[in-house]
Amino acid sequence: MQTKKIFLPESEFPRQWYNIQADMPTPLEPPLNPGTGKPISPDDLSAIFPMPLIEQEVSQERWIDIPEEVIEKLLIWRPTPLYRAYNLEKYLETPAKIYFKNEGVSPPGSHKPTTAIPQVYYNKISGTKAITTETGAGQWGSGLSFAGKLFGMPIKVWMVRISYDQKPYRRLMMEVWGGKCVASPSTETNAGRAVLEKDPDCPGSLGMAISEAVEAAVTGDNTKYALGSVLNHVMLHQTVNGLETQKQMAIAGDYPDMIIGCAGGGSNFAGNCLPFCRDKIAGKDIDIVGVEPASCPTMTMAPFAYDFGDTAATTPLLAMHTLGHNFIPAPIHAGGLRYHGMAPIISQLILDNIIRAENIQQIETFEAGLIFARTEGFISAPETNHATAMVIREALKAKEEGKEKVILFNWSGHGLVDMMAYQDYLSGKLADHAIDEEGIKNALRDIAPLPKPKQFKIGKVD
Ligand SMILES: Cc1ncc(COP(=O)(O)O)c(C=O)c1O
Repeated sequence: MQTKKIFLPESEFPRQWYNIQADMPTPLEPPLNPGTGKPISPDDLSAIFPMPLIEQEVSQERWIDIPEEVIEKLLIWRPTPLYRAYNLEKYLETPAKIYFKNEGVSPPGSHKPTTAIPQVYYNKISGTKAITTETGAGQWGSGLSFAGKLFGMPIKVWMVRISYDQKPYRRLMMEVWGGKCVASPSTETNAGRAVLEKDPDCPGSLGMAISEAVEAAVTGDNTKYALGSVLNHVMLHQTVNGLETQKQMAIAGDYPDMIIGCAGGGSNFAGNCLPFCRDKIAGKDIDIVGVEPASCPTMTMAPFAYDFGDTAATTPLLAMHTLGHNFIPAPIHAGGLRYHGMAPIISQLILDNIIRAENIQQIETFEAGLIFARTEGFISAPETNHATAMVIREALKAKEEGKEKVILFNWSGHGLVDMMAYQDYLSGKLADHAIDEEGIKNALRDIAPLPKPKQFKIGKVD
Protein backbone atom coordinates (compact mmCIF):
# COMPACT_ATOMS: atom_id res chain seq x y z
CA MET A 1 0.00 0.00 0.00
CA GLN A 2 1.17 3.53 -0.75
CA THR A 3 2.14 5.71 2.21
CA LYS A 4 0.23 8.99 2.06
CA LYS A 5 1.73 10.83 5.01
CA ILE A 6 4.88 10.47 7.00
CA PHE A 7 4.77 11.30 10.69
CA LEU A 8 7.76 11.65 12.95
CA PRO A 9 7.48 10.56 16.56
CA GLU A 10 7.86 13.37 19.11
CA SER A 11 11.15 11.83 20.17
CA GLU A 12 12.52 12.69 16.69
CA PHE A 13 11.70 16.40 17.04
CA PRO A 14 14.94 18.44 16.65
CA ARG A 15 16.59 19.56 19.88
CA GLN A 16 18.58 22.33 18.16
CA TRP A 17 17.85 25.02 15.60
CA TYR A 18 20.07 25.20 12.52
CA ASN A 19 21.80 28.56 11.99
CA ILE A 20 22.77 28.95 8.34
CA GLN A 21 24.94 31.96 9.18
CA ALA A 22 27.66 29.41 10.09
CA ASP A 23 27.66 28.00 6.54
CA MET A 24 26.77 30.89 4.22
CA PRO A 25 29.25 31.35 1.35
CA THR A 26 29.10 35.14 1.90
CA PRO A 27 28.49 36.53 5.41
CA LEU A 28 25.53 38.86 5.89
CA GLU A 29 26.20 42.58 5.65
CA PRO A 30 25.48 44.14 9.06
CA PRO A 31 22.33 46.10 9.90
CA LEU A 32 23.10 49.82 10.16
CA ASN A 33 22.02 52.52 12.54
CA PRO A 34 20.21 54.98 10.20
CA GLY A 35 21.44 57.93 12.28
CA THR A 36 25.15 57.14 12.19
CA GLY A 37 25.36 54.84 9.14
CA LYS A 38 27.44 52.50 11.37
CA PRO A 39 26.66 48.84 12.19
CA ILE A 40 24.17 48.64 15.05
CA SER A 41 25.20 47.32 18.45
CA PRO A 42 23.14 44.84 20.48
CA ASP A 43 22.27 47.75 22.79
CA ASP A 44 20.62 49.59 19.88
CA LEU A 45 18.13 46.74 19.65
CA SER A 46 17.56 46.21 23.36
CA ALA A 47 14.79 48.82 23.56
CA ILE A 48 12.54 46.55 21.51
CA PHE A 49 13.93 42.98 21.72
CA PRO A 50 15.11 40.87 24.69
CA MET A 51 18.83 40.04 24.79
CA PRO A 52 18.59 36.26 24.05
CA LEU A 53 16.86 37.04 20.72
CA ILE A 54 19.43 39.74 19.90
CA GLU A 55 22.19 37.19 20.56
CA GLN A 56 20.49 34.72 18.20
CA GLU A 57 20.16 37.46 15.59
CA VAL A 58 23.95 37.81 15.34
CA SER A 59 25.07 34.30 16.36
CA GLN A 60 27.49 32.44 14.08
CA GLU A 61 27.05 29.11 15.94
CA ARG A 62 25.82 26.38 13.60
CA TRP A 63 23.51 24.72 16.17
CA ILE A 64 21.57 26.49 18.92
CA ASP A 65 19.83 24.48 21.67
CA ILE A 66 16.05 24.74 21.85
CA PRO A 67 14.96 25.19 25.50
CA GLU A 68 12.87 22.33 26.95
CA GLU A 69 10.00 24.74 27.77
CA VAL A 70 9.85 25.73 24.09
CA ILE A 71 9.99 22.12 22.85
CA GLU A 72 7.12 21.20 25.18
CA LYS A 73 4.88 23.88 23.59
CA LEU A 74 5.96 23.19 20.00
CA LEU A 75 5.00 19.54 20.52
CA ILE A 76 1.35 20.66 20.73
CA TRP A 77 1.32 20.24 16.93
CA ARG A 78 4.89 19.46 15.84
CA PRO A 79 6.38 17.44 14.20
CA THR A 80 4.05 18.29 11.33
CA PRO A 81 3.23 15.60 8.75
CA LEU A 82 4.86 15.34 5.34
CA TYR A 83 2.37 14.32 2.64
CA ARG A 84 2.81 12.74 -0.74
CA ALA A 85 0.38 14.49 -3.13
CA TYR A 86 -0.59 11.35 -5.09
CA ASN A 87 -3.95 12.78 -6.16
CA LEU A 88 -2.41 15.97 -7.49
CA GLU A 89 0.23 13.93 -9.35
CA LYS A 90 -2.51 11.79 -10.90
CA TYR A 91 -4.60 14.81 -11.89
CA LEU A 92 -1.59 16.45 -13.57
CA GLU A 93 -0.53 13.10 -15.13
CA THR A 94 3.01 13.95 -14.14
CA PRO A 95 5.89 11.56 -13.54
CA ALA A 96 7.07 13.98 -10.80
CA LYS A 97 6.74 12.91 -7.18
CA ILE A 98 5.22 15.77 -5.17
CA TYR A 99 5.63 16.08 -1.39
CA PHE A 100 4.22 18.82 0.83
CA LYS A 101 5.01 19.70 4.42
CA ASN A 102 1.79 20.57 6.21
CA GLU A 103 2.41 23.61 8.42
CA GLY A 104 -1.34 24.32 8.50
CA VAL A 105 -1.93 21.88 11.38
CA SER A 106 -0.86 24.39 14.07
CA PRO A 107 -3.75 25.77 16.16
CA PRO A 108 -3.75 29.17 14.36
CA GLY A 109 -3.32 27.37 11.02
CA SER A 110 0.12 28.37 9.77
CA HIS A 111 3.87 28.25 10.44
CA LYS A 112 3.79 31.50 12.47
CA PRO A 113 3.58 30.01 16.02
CA THR A 114 6.82 28.08 15.39
CA THR A 115 8.64 31.38 16.02
CA ALA A 116 5.97 33.03 18.21
CA ILE A 117 6.52 30.43 20.95
CA PRO A 118 10.30 30.89 21.34
CA GLN A 119 9.93 34.68 21.00
CA VAL A 120 7.40 34.83 23.84
CA TYR A 121 9.48 32.40 25.91
CA TYR A 122 12.70 34.49 25.65
CA ASN A 123 10.73 37.63 26.51
CA LYS A 124 9.22 35.89 29.52
CA ILE A 125 12.56 34.78 30.96
CA SER A 126 13.99 38.26 30.30
CA GLY A 127 11.32 39.95 32.44
CA THR A 128 9.17 41.43 29.65
CA LYS A 129 5.65 42.19 30.91
CA ALA A 130 3.84 42.69 27.59
CA ILE A 131 4.52 42.30 23.85
CA THR A 132 3.25 44.43 20.97
CA THR A 133 3.14 43.57 17.29
CA GLU A 134 1.45 44.41 14.01
CA THR A 135 -0.48 42.12 11.71
CA GLY A 136 -1.72 42.40 8.15
CA ALA A 137 -4.13 39.62 7.29
CA GLY A 138 -3.97 38.30 10.86
CA GLN A 139 -1.96 35.02 10.75
CA TRP A 140 0.94 36.48 12.75
CA GLY A 141 -1.28 38.32 15.23
CA SER A 142 -3.24 35.14 15.95
CA GLY A 143 -0.02 33.06 16.18
CA LEU A 144 1.49 35.47 18.71
CA SER A 145 -1.75 35.68 20.72
CA PHE A 146 -1.82 31.87 20.94
CA ALA A 147 1.83 31.79 22.11
CA GLY A 148 1.16 34.63 24.58
CA LYS A 149 -1.64 32.65 26.19
CA LEU A 150 0.62 29.59 26.59
CA PHE A 151 3.13 31.63 28.63
CA GLY A 152 0.72 34.07 30.33
CA MET A 153 2.13 37.04 28.38
CA PRO A 154 -0.21 39.93 27.44
CA ILE A 155 -0.18 40.55 23.67
CA LYS A 156 -1.40 43.64 21.87
CA VAL A 157 -1.78 43.60 18.10
CA TRP A 158 -2.20 46.58 15.75
CA MET A 159 -4.12 45.15 12.78
CA VAL A 160 -4.21 47.05 9.50
CA ARG A 161 -7.64 48.78 9.49
CA ILE A 162 -8.81 47.40 6.16
CA SER A 163 -8.11 43.79 7.29
CA TYR A 164 -9.59 44.50 10.73
CA ASP A 165 -12.87 45.35 9.02
CA GLN A 166 -12.68 42.65 6.31
CA LYS A 167 -11.41 39.72 8.41
CA PRO A 168 -13.29 39.71 11.70
CA TYR A 169 -12.58 36.00 12.27
CA ARG A 170 -8.80 36.45 12.56
CA ARG A 171 -9.39 39.27 15.05
CA LEU A 172 -11.75 37.00 16.99
CA MET A 173 -9.13 34.22 17.03
CA MET A 174 -6.71 36.68 18.67
CA GLU A 175 -9.35 37.55 21.25
CA VAL A 176 -10.14 33.88 21.95
CA TRP A 177 -6.45 33.45 22.86
CA GLY A 178 -6.59 36.56 25.05
CA GLY A 179 -4.79 38.93 22.66
CA LYS A 180 -5.95 42.51 22.39
CA CYS A 181 -6.44 43.64 18.82
CA VAL A 182 -6.91 47.26 17.75
CA ALA A 183 -7.34 48.69 14.29
CA SER A 184 -4.41 50.70 12.93
CA PRO A 185 -4.23 53.69 12.64
CA SER A 186 -5.49 54.01 16.23
CA THR A 187 -5.92 56.88 18.65
CA GLU A 188 -3.58 55.10 21.10
CA THR A 189 -0.23 56.27 19.68
CA ASN A 190 1.24 59.55 18.43
CA ALA A 191 1.90 57.89 15.07
CA GLY A 192 -1.73 56.76 14.77
CA ARG A 193 -3.22 60.06 15.94
CA ALA A 194 -1.09 62.01 13.47
CA VAL A 195 -2.44 59.93 10.57
CA LEU A 196 -6.04 60.09 11.75
CA GLU A 197 -5.88 63.85 12.07
CA LYS A 198 -5.03 64.14 8.38
CA ASP A 199 -7.20 61.25 7.20
CA PRO A 200 -9.88 60.01 9.63
CA ASP A 201 -10.87 57.19 7.23
CA CYS A 202 -7.32 55.96 6.58
CA PRO A 203 -7.42 52.20 5.73
CA GLY A 204 -3.95 51.74 7.32
CA SER A 205 -0.88 49.89 6.11
CA LEU A 206 1.55 47.36 7.51
CA GLY A 207 4.19 50.08 7.88
CA MET A 208 1.82 52.27 9.89
CA ALA A 209 0.88 49.33 12.14
CA ILE A 210 4.59 48.57 12.75
CA SER A 211 5.18 52.20 13.74
CA GLU A 212 2.34 52.04 16.26
CA ALA A 213 3.48 48.70 17.73
CA VAL A 214 7.11 49.86 18.01
CA GLU A 215 6.07 53.16 19.60
CA ALA A 216 3.91 51.30 22.14
CA ALA A 217 6.85 48.97 22.95
CA VAL A 218 9.34 51.81 23.39
CA THR A 219 7.00 53.92 25.55
CA GLY A 220 5.36 51.03 27.45
CA ASP A 221 6.44 49.72 30.84
CA ASN A 222 8.69 46.64 30.35
CA THR A 223 7.11 46.17 26.93
CA LYS A 224 8.87 44.66 23.89
CA TYR A 225 8.02 44.23 20.23
CA ALA A 226 7.94 40.99 18.19
CA LEU A 227 8.32 40.51 14.43
CA GLY A 228 6.92 37.46 12.64
CA SER A 229 9.33 37.28 9.68
CA VAL A 230 12.40 38.86 8.01
CA LEU A 231 14.88 38.83 10.94
CA ASN A 232 17.58 36.17 11.37
CA HIS A 233 16.22 34.80 14.65
CA VAL A 234 12.81 34.22 13.03
CA MET A 235 14.42 32.23 10.18
CA LEU A 236 16.40 30.27 12.79
CA HIS A 237 13.29 29.24 14.76
CA GLN A 238 11.55 28.06 11.61
CA THR A 239 14.35 25.62 10.71
CA VAL A 240 12.75 22.85 12.79
CA ASN A 241 10.50 22.50 9.73
CA GLY A 242 13.34 21.62 7.33
CA LEU A 243 15.09 19.44 9.92
CA GLU A 244 11.91 17.41 10.37
CA THR A 245 11.44 17.26 6.59
CA GLN A 246 14.95 15.88 6.05
CA LYS A 247 14.15 12.96 8.35
CA GLN A 248 10.74 12.42 6.73
CA MET A 249 12.17 12.45 3.19
CA ALA A 250 14.72 9.87 4.32
CA ILE A 251 11.87 7.66 5.61
CA ALA A 252 10.14 8.10 2.23
CA GLY A 253 13.38 7.02 0.55
CA ASP A 254 13.53 10.18 -1.57
CA TYR A 255 15.55 13.40 -1.69
CA PRO A 256 14.17 16.58 -3.30
CA ASP A 257 15.44 17.69 -6.72
CA MET A 258 13.46 20.85 -6.20
CA ILE A 259 12.14 22.80 -3.16
CA ILE A 260 9.43 25.44 -3.49
CA GLY A 261 7.96 27.90 -0.98
CA CYS A 262 6.05 31.17 -1.06
CA ALA A 263 7.90 34.16 0.36
CA GLY A 264 6.57 37.35 1.97
CA GLY A 265 9.28 38.22 4.48
CA GLY A 266 10.81 34.80 3.83
CA SER A 267 10.22 32.82 7.02
CA ASN A 268 8.15 29.77 5.98
CA PHE A 269 10.28 29.24 2.88
CA ALA A 270 13.49 29.64 4.93
CA GLY A 271 12.24 27.26 7.60
CA ASN A 272 11.73 24.50 5.10
CA CYS A 273 14.68 25.11 2.77
CA LEU A 274 17.60 26.30 4.94
CA PRO A 275 18.69 22.84 6.16
CA PHE A 276 18.64 21.75 2.49
CA CYS A 277 20.59 24.90 1.52
CA ARG A 278 23.29 23.55 3.83
CA ASP A 279 23.36 20.37 1.70
CA LYS A 280 23.48 22.48 -1.47
CA ILE A 281 26.39 24.55 -0.17
CA ALA A 282 28.15 21.23 0.55
CA GLY A 283 27.66 20.17 -3.10
CA LYS A 284 24.14 18.68 -3.52
CA ASP A 285 22.30 19.57 -6.69
CA ILE A 286 18.92 21.06 -5.63
CA ASP A 287 16.85 23.74 -7.33
CA ILE A 288 15.47 25.91 -4.50
CA VAL A 289 12.77 28.39 -5.56
CA GLY A 290 11.03 31.17 -3.65
CA VAL A 291 7.74 32.37 -5.12
CA GLU A 292 6.26 35.85 -4.73
CA PRO A 293 3.33 37.80 -6.19
CA ALA A 294 3.91 39.51 -9.54
CA SER A 295 2.51 42.68 -7.95
CA CYS A 296 5.15 42.66 -5.18
CA PRO A 297 8.27 41.40 -6.99
CA THR A 298 10.87 41.91 -4.25
CA MET A 299 13.16 38.96 -5.05
CA THR A 300 12.70 39.00 -8.81
CA MET A 301 12.86 42.71 -9.66
CA ALA A 302 14.12 44.76 -6.70
CA PRO A 303 17.67 45.94 -6.06
CA PHE A 304 19.81 44.59 -3.22
CA ALA A 305 20.16 47.68 -1.05
CA TYR A 306 19.97 49.02 2.48
CA ASP A 307 16.43 49.93 3.53
CA PHE A 308 14.18 50.30 6.54
CA GLY A 309 12.07 47.32 7.60
CA ASP A 310 9.00 49.51 8.06
CA THR A 311 7.22 52.23 6.14
CA ALA A 312 7.65 54.79 8.91
CA ALA A 313 11.46 54.41 8.72
CA THR A 314 11.99 53.61 12.41
CA THR A 315 13.94 50.29 12.21
CA PRO A 316 17.67 49.72 11.56
CA LEU A 317 18.69 49.55 7.90
CA LEU A 318 18.79 46.00 6.57
CA ALA A 319 20.78 44.82 3.53
CA MET A 320 18.13 43.05 1.47
CA HIS A 321 16.16 42.93 -1.73
CA THR A 322 13.73 45.81 -1.36
CA LEU A 323 11.15 47.65 -3.43
CA GLY A 324 11.54 50.65 -1.10
CA HIS A 325 9.77 51.05 2.24
CA ASN A 326 7.24 53.46 0.72
CA PHE A 327 6.12 51.00 -1.96
CA ILE A 328 2.47 50.05 -1.53
CA PRO A 329 1.69 46.77 -3.30
CA ALA A 330 -1.65 46.18 -5.02
CA PRO A 331 -4.40 44.92 -2.68
CA ILE A 332 -4.03 41.21 -3.50
CA HIS A 333 -5.60 38.65 -1.17
CA ALA A 334 -2.22 37.22 -0.13
CA GLY A 335 -1.77 39.94 2.50
CA GLY A 336 1.21 38.12 4.03
CA LEU A 337 3.15 38.49 0.77
CA ARG A 338 2.60 42.26 0.48
CA TYR A 339 5.91 43.28 2.03
CA HIS A 340 8.45 45.61 0.43
CA GLY A 341 11.57 43.74 1.64
CA MET A 342 12.93 40.20 1.89
CA ALA A 343 14.79 38.52 4.75
CA PRO A 344 18.51 39.40 4.59
CA ILE A 345 19.36 35.66 4.77
CA ILE A 346 17.18 34.80 1.78
CA SER A 347 18.39 37.91 -0.08
CA GLN A 348 22.05 36.94 0.39
CA LEU A 349 21.41 33.32 -0.67
CA ILE A 350 19.83 34.67 -3.86
CA LEU A 351 22.95 36.76 -4.54
CA ASP A 352 25.05 33.63 -3.99
CA ASN A 353 22.91 31.54 -6.39
CA ILE A 354 21.83 29.07 -3.70
CA ILE A 355 18.22 30.15 -4.10
CA ARG A 356 16.36 31.51 -7.13
CA ALA A 357 13.03 33.29 -7.35
CA GLU A 358 9.91 33.45 -9.52
CA ASN A 359 6.79 35.59 -9.44
CA ILE A 360 3.21 34.64 -10.27
CA GLN A 361 -0.02 36.54 -10.92
CA GLN A 362 -2.95 36.27 -8.54
CA ILE A 363 -5.46 34.42 -10.74
CA GLU A 364 -3.01 31.58 -11.51
CA THR A 365 -2.45 31.15 -7.76
CA PHE A 366 -6.16 30.74 -7.05
CA GLU A 367 -6.53 28.34 -9.99
CA ALA A 368 -3.80 26.30 -8.34
CA GLY A 369 -5.51 26.56 -4.94
CA LEU A 370 -8.70 25.15 -6.43
CA ILE A 371 -6.88 22.27 -8.13
CA PHE A 372 -5.14 21.49 -4.84
CA ALA A 373 -8.38 21.61 -2.81
CA ARG A 374 -10.13 19.38 -5.38
CA THR A 375 -7.35 16.79 -5.45
CA GLU A 376 -5.62 16.82 -2.04
CA GLY A 377 -8.60 18.23 -0.13
CA PHE A 378 -6.94 21.03 1.82
CA ILE A 379 -8.00 24.65 1.22
CA SER A 380 -4.80 26.71 1.17
CA ALA A 381 -4.10 30.23 2.39
CA PRO A 382 -3.81 32.70 -0.53
CA GLU A 383 -0.08 33.03 0.27
CA THR A 384 0.41 29.25 0.06
CA ASN A 385 -1.34 29.16 -3.34
CA HIS A 386 1.74 30.88 -4.79
CA ALA A 387 3.87 27.86 -3.92
CA THR A 388 1.24 25.45 -5.26
CA ALA A 389 1.02 27.34 -8.57
CA MET A 390 4.77 27.00 -9.03
CA VAL A 391 4.63 23.28 -8.15
CA ILE A 392 1.97 22.76 -10.82
CA ARG A 393 4.08 24.60 -13.43
CA GLU A 394 7.10 22.45 -12.56
CA ALA A 395 5.15 19.17 -12.45
CA LEU A 396 3.78 19.90 -15.93
CA LYS A 397 7.29 20.73 -17.14
CA ALA A 398 8.49 17.38 -15.74
CA LYS A 399 5.70 15.73 -17.73
CA GLU A 400 6.79 17.42 -20.95
CA GLU A 401 10.37 16.41 -20.32
CA GLY A 402 9.40 12.90 -19.11
CA LYS A 403 11.41 13.36 -15.89
CA GLU A 404 10.62 11.69 -12.57
CA LYS A 405 11.54 14.77 -10.53
CA VAL A 406 11.07 14.88 -6.74
CA ILE A 407 9.37 18.17 -5.85
CA LEU A 408 9.00 19.23 -2.21
CA PHE A 409 6.95 22.25 -1.19
CA ASN A 410 6.03 23.98 2.01
CA TRP A 411 2.28 24.18 2.58
CA SER A 412 2.48 27.21 4.85
CA GLY A 413 -1.13 27.47 6.01
CA HIS A 414 -4.81 26.77 5.50
CA GLY A 415 -7.22 29.30 4.05
CA LEU A 416 -10.30 28.59 6.15
CA VAL A 417 -10.41 32.18 7.38
CA ASP A 418 -9.81 33.52 3.86
CA MET A 419 -12.98 32.32 2.21
CA MET A 420 -13.92 35.82 0.99
CA ALA A 421 -10.87 35.60 -1.27
CA TYR A 422 -12.18 32.30 -2.70
CA GLN A 423 -15.61 33.89 -3.11
CA ASP A 424 -14.04 36.67 -5.19
CA TYR A 425 -12.25 34.08 -7.30
CA LEU A 426 -15.29 31.84 -7.77
CA SER A 427 -17.51 34.78 -8.71
CA GLY A 428 -14.99 36.01 -11.29
CA LYS A 429 -14.21 39.20 -9.38
CA LEU A 430 -10.53 38.49 -8.85
CA ALA A 431 -8.09 40.48 -10.99
CA ASP A 432 -4.44 40.28 -11.93
CA HIS A 433 -2.40 43.43 -11.35
CA ALA A 434 0.10 44.92 -13.79
CA ILE A 435 3.49 45.51 -12.20
CA ASP A 436 3.44 49.05 -10.83
CA GLU A 437 6.77 50.17 -12.32
CA GLU A 438 6.08 53.84 -11.57
CA GLY A 439 5.27 53.08 -7.92
CA ILE A 440 8.45 51.00 -7.58
CA LYS A 441 10.59 53.70 -9.20
CA ASN A 442 9.17 56.35 -6.84
CA ALA A 443 9.76 54.19 -3.76
CA LEU A 444 13.32 53.41 -4.87
CA ARG A 445 14.00 57.11 -5.32
CA ASP A 446 13.25 57.52 -1.59
CA ILE A 447 15.95 55.02 -0.60
CA ALA A 448 18.58 56.32 -3.03
CA PRO A 449 20.23 58.57 -0.38
CA LEU A 450 20.64 55.67 2.10
CA PRO A 451 24.06 53.97 2.50
CA LYS A 452 24.77 51.21 -0.06
CA PRO A 453 25.77 47.65 0.85
CA LYS A 454 29.12 46.35 -0.53
CA GLN A 455 27.21 44.00 -2.83
CA PHE A 456 24.74 46.69 -3.98
CA LYS A 457 22.90 45.40 -7.03
CA ILE A 458 20.57 47.34 -9.23
CA GLY A 459 17.05 45.94 -9.77
CA LYS A 460 15.10 45.36 -12.98
CA VAL A 461 12.88 48.42 -12.63
CA ASP A 462 15.55 51.00 -11.85
C1 LIG B 1 0.02 31.20 5.42
C2 LIG B 1 1.15 32.15 5.19
N1 LIG B 1 2.12 31.80 4.33
C3 LIG B 1 3.13 32.64 4.07
C4 LIG B 1 3.22 33.89 4.66
C5 LIG B 1 4.35 34.79 4.29
O1 LIG B 1 5.21 35.08 5.34
P1 LIG B 1 6.68 34.49 5.38
O2 LIG B 1 7.33 34.81 4.07
O3 LIG B 1 7.34 35.14 6.53
O4 LIG B 1 6.54 33.02 5.57
C6 LIG B 1 2.22 34.29 5.57
C7 LIG B 1 2.31 35.61 6.23
O5 LIG B 1 1.44 36.09 6.88
C8 LIG B 1 1.17 33.40 5.85
O6 LIG B 1 0.20 33.73 6.70
